[in-house]
Amino acid sequence: MKVINMSNNSSDTAKEFAQALHQSGFVVLTETGIEQSDIESLYSNWLNFFYQADDSKKSFLYNKDTVAGFIPRTVSETAKGFTKKDLKEIYHYYDGKICPPEQKEISDNIRLRLLDLSAKLLGWLHEYLPQEIKTELEEPLDSMAKDSPQTLFRMNYYPPLDSFSDDAKSGAQRAESHADINLITLLPNVSSAGLEAKTRDGKWTPVPYMPNSIVINSGDMLAMRTKDFYPSFYHRVIQPSNSHEERISLAFCVHPKEECKLSEHHTAHSFLQERYREMKVK
Ligand SMILES: [Fe+2]
Repeated sequence: MKVINMSNNSSDTAKEFAQALHQSGFVVLTETGIEQSDIESLYSNWLNFFYQADDSKKSFLYNKDTVAGFIPRTVSETAKGFTKKDLKEIYHYYDGKICPPEQKEISDNIRLRLLDLSAKLLGWLHEYLPQEIKTELEEPLDSMAKDSPQTLFRMNYYPPLDSFSDDAKSGAQRAESHADINLITLLPNVSSAGLEAKTRDGKWTPVPYMPNSIVINSGDMLAMRTKDFYPSFYHRVIQPSNSHEERISLAFCVHPKEECKLSEHHTAHSFLQERYREMKVK
């Protein structure tokens, strides 16, 4: 998996990034300008939310129509094609929708910076699309995502394994094998290892866990819209060997506006609704 230092910021960086995503669907970026200390503050702030009693968290319970808000472990998600729920709790924060007041300021700060970075990355991906794919697009990839209310700040909290029942843990993963729904996902500085991606030859490979880095992966919407030029690969978060270890990660999921056409059969809206039903969130 390619590791790219963003501090060079030359046209070579853009090309290198697009080629790496084309080849493996995952890229690790370092020196992005988003400091590790800021991400660590974000994570410790959100841990305070997840450490609260269920009754307190449930005052932010998710809305079934918008899926904004807190999704408890009793709902969690079930990856497409699997039966066991993931071993996690989730908070979906959309701009302008429900957010715990103590977490809002720091989340908005990071959200805006990730939004800027994602616009730059999508611009690079568009620039290096083959001409025959580019001409079929109604608008550039970065413009599809511009001001999209569907772009999602998604905090994943994986509690220690020993807080789950044996039945819940048996045959389950922290996040079972899945492909992301959206255009691209930005994963800054996760708090521990455990993320694995499936390579083209079908092998599970650990995604490099590096300080001061952001992992970028392409999602199904990008793959669909670019006819798999930027492929969307399966990935998962495996159970750790230490049953006391917790994990927290922010997945910043960049979505197109819902009216954007993805294929002959799908708009971004119809595809998203189908996937949420498959994941038993709706
Ligand atoms: Fe994912």
